[in-house]
Amino acid sequence: MNKARVAILISGRGSNMAALIAAAAAADYPAEVVLVAADRADAAGLALARDAGVPTAVVPYRGAAERATFEAELDRHLREAGATFVCLAGFMRLLSAAFVTRWRDRIINIHPSLLPAFPGLDTHARALKAGVRIHGCTVHFVRASVDDGPVILQGHVPVRPGDTPDTLAARVLEVEHQIYPLALRLVADGSAQVVDGAVKIDPGAPAHLTAKSECGHRH
Ligand code: GRF
Repeated sequence: MNKARVAILISGRGSNMAALIAAAAAADYPAEVVLVAADRADAAGLALARDAGVPTAVVPYRGAAERATFEAELDRHLREAGATFVCLAGFMRLLSAAFVTRWRDRIINIHPSLLPAFPGLDTHARALKAGVRIHGCTVHFVRASVDDGPVILQGHVPVRPGDTPDTLAARVLEVEHQIYPLALRLVADGSAQVVDGAVKIDPGAPAHLTAKSECGHRH
């Protein structure tokens, strides 16, 4: 199998990164993780990546004024690793329109809400405050506007009485770890493609994946 070459960008804990690396360890997974890059040397996920035998890089972010240098350095690492796709996994830096255009339809992100609801930060606290009954997470292609772009997969969870931002976050995170590897699989094997601004999933894709994209995760 000719596998897609995926780089993962992180800023912190790296639990979604770890889920992608674990999925990619399967022989029949259509992507291999060729690089984990972080914008800070203390990102905990770097150690997990090294333990899993994945090459790592640190590209320090030195402020918005130096974003062009930062992105050029990042791009160099991605190209040297031969990456064909980029997965953002808790990567806390805004990427410029130029960078996103260069990688158009080849960068995906996971966001802890059912987009377009609750883009931005503190999604779980905001969902609780808004009183929504259903919350969840979204894997989407990245566009220049933050937390925007064609949706690949979503997973939902119930909001329970007594939930705190932390309990809700933990419930959502479990689903994140399931849908991100599924979404990357669909993108890497070409089953999910952007057509007229929305993702079309090949009807020939395995039924359990297609069902998830239509119905969300059962929880
Ligand atoms: C996740 O909730 C992800 O959806 C958001 O940032 C968090 C990163 O967590 N973008 P981790 O680093 O993957 O553990």
